[in-house]
Amino acid sequence: MSAPRVKSPQLLMAESGADREGHGLKRTMGLFQLICFGVGAIVGTGIFVGLSDSVAQAGPAVVVSFILAAITCVFTAFSFAELGGAIPVSGSSYSFAYAGLGEGTAFLVGWCLILEYGVSVSAVAVGWSQYVNELLHSLTGVQLPAALSAGPSDGGIVNLPAVIVIALASVLLIRGVRESARATAAMAVLKLVVLVAFCAIGFSAFKHGNLTPFSPAGLGGIGAGTTAAFFSYIGFDAITTAGEEAKDPRRNIPIAILVCIGLVTLLYCAVALAAIGAVGGDAVAGRPAALSYVVNVVTGSTVGAGVVAFGAVVAIASVVLAVMYGQTRILMSMSRDGLVPRVFEKISPKTSTPVAGTLIVAVVFAVPAAFAPLDAVVNLTTIGTLATMAAVNVAVIALRRRQPGLARTFRVPLYPVVPLLGIGFCLYLMYETGWTTWIQFVCFLAAGFLVYVLYGRRNSRLAADAAVTGAVPGAGVTPDAAERAPQAV
Ligand code: ALA
Repeated sequence: MSAPRVKSPQLLMAESGADREGHGLKRTMGLFQLICFGVGAIVGTGIFVGLSDSVAQAGPAVVVSFILAAITCVFTAFSFAELGGAIPVSGSSYSFAYAGLGEGTAFLVGWCLILEYGVSVSAVAVGWSQYVNELLHSLTGVQLPAALSAGPSDGGIVNLPAVIVIALASVLLIRGVRESARATAAMAVLKLVVLVAFCAIGFSAFKHGNLTPFSPAGLGGIGAGTTAAFFSYIGFDAITTAGEEAKDPRRNIPIAILVCIGLVTLLYCAVALAAIGAVGGDAVAGRPAALSYVVNVVTGSTVGAGVVAFGAVVAIASVVLAVMYGQTRILMSMSRDGLVPRVFEKISPKTSTPVAGTLIVAVVFAVPAAFAPLDAVVNLTTIGTLATMAAVNVAVIALRRRQPGLARTFRVPLYPVVPLLGIGFCLYLMYETGWTTWIQFVCFLAAGFLVYVLYGRRNSRLAADAAVTGAVPGAGVTPDAAERAPQAV
């Protein structure tokens, strides 16, 4: 029987060069930049567009939904913090699964990450397009024609703004992470300011009576609201994809993840309370651009709508940037392992960034952005993300057993209760997405399985190295692997 294809954390780091100076990527991101990067990846469509959907399900009890979604993320964030601190490489859940669960599972986790990162780039870009139109309308009174600002299923031909934001993000990413991190930091601060200002305006008109009845749809509504609210937390794990570009990653990555999750939870609950307290749950539920509406009602002026629309345009653009960055780094890790074509691992010596990989990601995900409706892939993104999060919790348990002596700067508290609870919460929210989503998800996984069997398994470098050295795959660091730094083009 062949040995399981599991890759040791030491081998993962040796291959990426994460423990050496002068490896392919530059270490430019400090703690503040990592936190901004996290906020950049998290706060966007979910709160600006999705809040009205969560309120439609749960009413004022959407606050409970946000807290339940946050608890799901916090349990898993502990696992990300432990693994991100112990194995600071670019591959995020994919690399953790390779170390903890083996190559086949790692490939499927990487495949699901395409839902979380790549497909959501398209969806979030479509949301950006809607807010660009809203902003144009409040500034000039005119909007782009539907033919150029929506896909065919929304009565248009091509969604041009959605394609443009992806193109702009790819230019920034190709120029280098320093520029990208600066742009992300500026956008993260700006959107926090806009949302805090929104809270101040909403709370100035707060009426307790607007919070009753608190839970009009009962526990079922809160559960459905939690699944909807979860989308607004997607992206916190993107911080771990910066493992090779972060300064002192073992310390800074765990801190950045936990700070981000705490910060956005406070923010989301405050925004929801401010919106519902000002105008009531029924007025927020299902309303497009609900935050602009609340500001209009409270201030009696349309200027506020423009400011909020501007904040949304900035917020959603930074999500596109951060999430696209994450997708290119995950593909780079899979490419180093031979599981996807090598073009994704090539780093330009001029910009120190994966130019070809970034361009391919931009072109591939611009296609659904140009032609798909906004909500077509949101549930699929959610279920794929929850599946990878469950896998990360399992990987923590597996790695504690397999590598008890591994240097860990952060350890999950109350082990193994916390990762087990993380798995339970993820499975519950996956269940809540409904059977249609499950069918799509199973088909997507089946396609991934085929790609692995027909391409990944045959081109696996881990297996090739083991065949040359006669070693157990991934058991240690071979001289060859230690020298294998990211290739220059
Ligand atoms: N959490 C991200 C957003 O809300 C996906 O846009």
